Amino acid sequence: MSPEEFFAIDGVVMPAAEARIPVLDLAFLRGVGAFDTLCTYDGHPHGMHAHLARLWDTAGRFGVAPCFSEGDLRRVVREIQARSGLHELRINIVVSPGDLTEGVFGASRPRWVVIARDQHPPPPAAYERGVTVVTCPGHRIWPEVKTTAYLCGWPGLAAARAAGAHEAIYVDEDGTVREGVTSNVLMRTGTVVCSVADSVLPGLTKAGLRAVAERHGLTWREHRMTLHDLHGADEVWITSSVRELVPVVAIDGRPVGDGTPGSWAKTLRAEYRDRCRQESAADAAAFAARHH
Ligand SMILES: Cc1ncc(COP(=O)(O)O)c(C=O)c1O
Repeated sequence: MSPEEFFAIDGVVMPAAEARIPVLDLAFLRGVGAFDTLCTYDGHPHGMHAHLARLWDTAGRFGVAPCFSEGDLRRVVREIQARSGLHELRINIVVSPGDLTEGVFGASRPRWVVIARDQHPPPPAAYERGVTVVTCPGHRIWPEVKTTAYLCGWPGLAAARAAGAHEAIYVDEDGTVREGVTSNVLMRTGTVVCSVADSVLPGLTKAGLRAVAERHGLTWREHRMTLHDLHGADEVWITSSVRELVPVVAIDGRPVGDGTPGSWAKTLRAEYRDRCRQESAADAAAFAARHH
């Protein structure tokens, strides 16, 4: 039996079935919402500062200042862990301007929602055998922030689902690769790891991986990449907080490299995971020391 799920609205934890937001909520009504996802390692949230900084950067674009603290979020996560019995969580945080009050813009006070559920990472086979992806046209309209508006990527995700693929990646008409609909895209050629820095979400997994890769003597470059570059690379990876690093073995049915995961994917992910575990435990200890 799966444990009962618990969510939180404005810091109040409740059974998921009771979690309701009004139809006038502007994230629902207008797609105006900030969103971020982080995971726990050994029960401790990872990268809370960086995820909250990115969340508040996005919320600031629609005029919402920080409306809860790190302490509020840690308390909510602990309560959800205790009530659900789930130790390892995927934590989605959504901030909306609140409810429409008048005309087309008026907003009540901001609302924050925490949806903390079982992590559901990709299955082990995704890491061992790699995944396939499809390409989709276009890009996110405000690429440097993480919003609730997934309209641009939805047709790509539907195409991925129809093709039995794991992810869709945005490719412009001229072949420029941006990012995945829900991930960053990286490639390794020889000892050089390359990804795109402009007009994509500054992924926190990608940033963490950089330190790991450089410690292994890999060179990190950030510049334009094309679909042609990806097909010619030794390895292609997608990264995100939930997936960490997943090797991509085919794009639109065409193999990447020799069509099997490269050896670096496994090495870097293992080290990245260790690092996340250590950082999460250290962050939790530092927070506890500051507040007791
Ligand atoms: C569009 C997009 N790019 C990249 C990422 C990866 O970001 P992070 O590694 O911070 O989870 C995500 C994560 O959901 C995303 O939605």
